[in-house]
Amino acid sequence: MKSVLITGGAGFIGSNLIRFLIDKYKDYRIINYDSLTYAGNLSNLEKISNKNYFFVKGDICDYSLVKKTFEKYKIDTVIHLAAESHVDRSIKDPLSFAQTNIIGTINLLEIARTFWGKDFLNKVFYHISTDEVYGSLGKKGYFSETSSYDPHSPYSASKASSDHFVRSYKDSYALPVLISNCSNNYGPYQFPEKIIPLVINNIINKAPIPIYGKGDNIRDWLYVEDHIRAIDLILHKGLIGETYLIGASNEWKNIDLVKYLILETDKLLDREKGFSDKLITYIKDRPGHDIRYGIDASKLKNNLGWKPLFSFEKGIIETINWYLLNNKWLKNVASGEYRDYYKEHYF
Ligand code: NAD
Ligand code: DAU
Repeated sequence: MKSVLITGGAGFIGSNLIRFLIDKYKDYRIINYDSLTYAGNLSNLEKISNKNYFFVKGDICDYSLVKKTFEKYKIDTVIHLAAESHVDRSIKDPLSFAQTNIIGTINLLEIARTFWGKDFLNKVFYHISTDEVYGSLGKKGYFSETSSYDPHSPYSASKASSDHFVRSYKDSYALPVLISNCSNNYGPYQFPEKIIPLVINNIINKAPIPIYGKGDNIRDWLYVEDHIRAIDLILHKGLIGETYLIGASNEWKNIDLVKYLILETDKLLDREKGFSDKLITYIKDRPGHDIRYGIDASKLKNNLGWKPLFSFEKGIIETINWYLLNNKWLKNVASGEYRDYYKEHYF
């Protein structure tokens, strides 16, 4: 039986990953280790009832609890997702990003190395990272596994640092590691501080839709389930020590993305065409705002046979419908601390 420690399993990608793995690998023991920050929510995992699933509430920086968890569950596989993940928050509070994303990652690496001793057979430490470590593209070109690191926000700098530490453990201790750097994800259970759920939420509530700068920045969007399938493939078929970039070649200018969301959400809400256009509000740009991300995923496609299954049209409809059907979830997570963050950030 594989014993898989998933850090950050109560967040957006982590909860989608856990549901997928539990469904596909009935004999895997899955340990969700999460400190439940504002972004972690056990209601993301409400419907799971499986005797091989365990939840541990803890901080990845807590050496003794992580160590105990390794010992108790005899962890042989780590999929490390826990992170502070929102760029705007990192600009306000860089230290907590350094703490979780850098120190937390080193803590996990160190415990994996010492707990596994010299016997790395059938062990793997899989680090989930982001394309933002590569910085910003101009009009042409794509990020690939050989692109130079050039992070611009405290978030991306902390993720870049964590990637370097993971590689240093491969080189210095032969720790069996895998890294993937993925483009922007969207889909169910994403916290509504990120642009897609934020826009859907604001359309539902007829609230202003904040667009940074002129809305010209470009992101490469991937449906979360396609990211999960890539993680599954890399975990089981990836070459130890390698890095894989994940992306669906689906680039959208922010303003076009917002207009598309308005079109589709208004339709599903039975509102007349263009009803929510008036909500679009241009605001001050994000400092250090990366212009464009674009992924060349040919290594993952050619070597491991991955391809995205969701067209953007299909993924977006699934996503909007999910948020409309799960309005209670949306209202819950968008209350409390989030309301204060929102007021402070935008007004
Ligand atoms: P998220 O913010 O939705 O979830 C992060 C989870 O980590 C939460 O459950 C939170 O409670 C937990 N966490 C935070 N600090 C912790 C700590 N100190 N100890 C234990 N748990 C802690 O993030 P997400 O969007 O699901 O992203 C998951 C991972 O994927 C991150 O590492 C992120 O950098 C990476 N990633 C995200 C995207 C994206 O578009 N969302 C794209 C590429 C890579
Ligand atoms: O590329 C992968 C990264 O994608 C992940 O590593 C991060 O965890 C994830 O948060 C995401 O980062 P971005 O900064 O690209 O995502 P965000 O949803 O915050 O913003 C997407 C684009 O929309 C970006 O150009 C900024 C813009 N934006 C965002 C918000 C929240 C706005 O114009 N208005 C907004 O209110």
